[in-house]
Amino acid sequence: MPANHLTFPAHFLWGSATAAHQTEGNNVNSDWWAREHAPGTSIHEPSGDACDSYHRYGEDIALLADLGFNTYRFSLEWARIEPEQGFVSRAALDHYRRMVAACHQVGLTPMVTLHHFTVPRWFAQRGGWQAPDAADLFARFTEAVLPVLADGVEWVCTINEPNGVAHDAGKANEHLPNHVYGLPDPEVSQTLVLAHRESRAVLSTLTGVKSGWTIATQAFQPEPGCEEIAHTYGYPREDFFLEAARGDDFIGVQAYTRTIIGPDGPKPPREDAEKTLMGWEYYPPAVGDGIRNAWKLTDGVPVIVTENGIATDDDRRRIAYTTGALTAVHQAMTEGIDVQGYLYWSALDNYEWGSFRPTFGLIAVDRQTFARTPKPSAHWLGQVAKSGRLTLDTTRQ
Ligand code: BGC
Repeated sequence: MPANHLTFPAHFLWGSATAAHQTEGNNVNSDWWAREHAPGTSIHEPSGDACDSYHRYGEDIALLADLGFNTYRFSLEWARIEPEQGFVSRAALDHYRRMVAACHQVGLTPMVTLHHFTVPRWFAQRGGWQAPDAADLFARFTEAVLPVLADGVEWVCTINEPNGVAHDAGKANEHLPNHVYGLPDPEVSQTLVLAHRESRAVLSTLTGVKSGWTIATQAFQPEPGCEEIAHTYGYPREDFFLEAARGDDFIGVQAYTRTIIGPDGPKPPREDAEKTLMGWEYYPPAVGDGIRNAWKLTDGVPVIVTENGIATDDDRRRIAYTTGALTAVHQAMTEGIDVQGYLYWSALDNYEWGSFRPTFGLIAVDRQTFARTPKPSAHWLGQVAKSGRLTLDTTRQ
């Protein structure tokens, strides 16, 4: 008989994640807002008010704490903090300081992402990550947000999914199509590594901050005989960014699905495979692949699962998916990998880069009233977090 529950360590970080552009609403000074409203845009639906979390963050944070989580990952919006180059908005900084304070008030550990896909319009207009001084500008932005982080923020993610950013940089109008990224631009990849390192150097002036970056791990699985093809395909899309995290305080793993690599490269999911609302294969163990790859390529940097989740209308599948994912996380830990936390993506049904249709959230958001309603999965995962115990329903595995 398999054990009917798995136990996680007492200090495990349990939580969920969001990003500013996907939740705050009216992020009008960002490059994404500009893209959403550009004539002839390929973006299906604009972000608009999103979840109105810019005003309702207190409710979000209190709800997450009530549900039983101990950690909340959210991002700062550069376009609000530095709306014009060199002009730092004290009011915007104060806003994020209030978010950090709100977390502390209810006992949530804040994990702050400095850059989650969006940049100010001025930064995009001068070439974005292709501009020669892009890394320095990001380091200066990091300096500008130190007052927010100095309020007792222990965990800082510099750049979210640089492997996605490096791919997207050359293709300004492209909606991120799925969790396999196109071939990153090698120069932008290098610039992002530099930006990450410069930002970490700035962060190291604060005591007690642990910093790292968060990588889209894509679970490239070679068909027999295709190992070399998978390596060539996966290296610039994932491994390069993991290797760059050697010596960091942690590495963020973000996993959703797998991609089989055949003789001609990536293959679409099999016709008969279960798919999520993103069209991705339902494959909970992907997170285990990501954790192992991160641990190996960073030479043993502690891992945090900073994103993992499923877009589905059927909340029972969310519970099943997350059970499978947490089983894979636990398995990696029993192999000796130092995994320090698991953050579900996403706390809310939020703006999914072009559409509100793929619902990843633990908490539903009414699109008219913005009322928040936790789904059964939110109560279930909150309970797992509180108890540190995952009960396995052996009938569903
Ligand atoms: C991103 C999130 C996104 C999620 C689901 C990750 O790549 O960090 O912003 O919503 O995947 O597509």
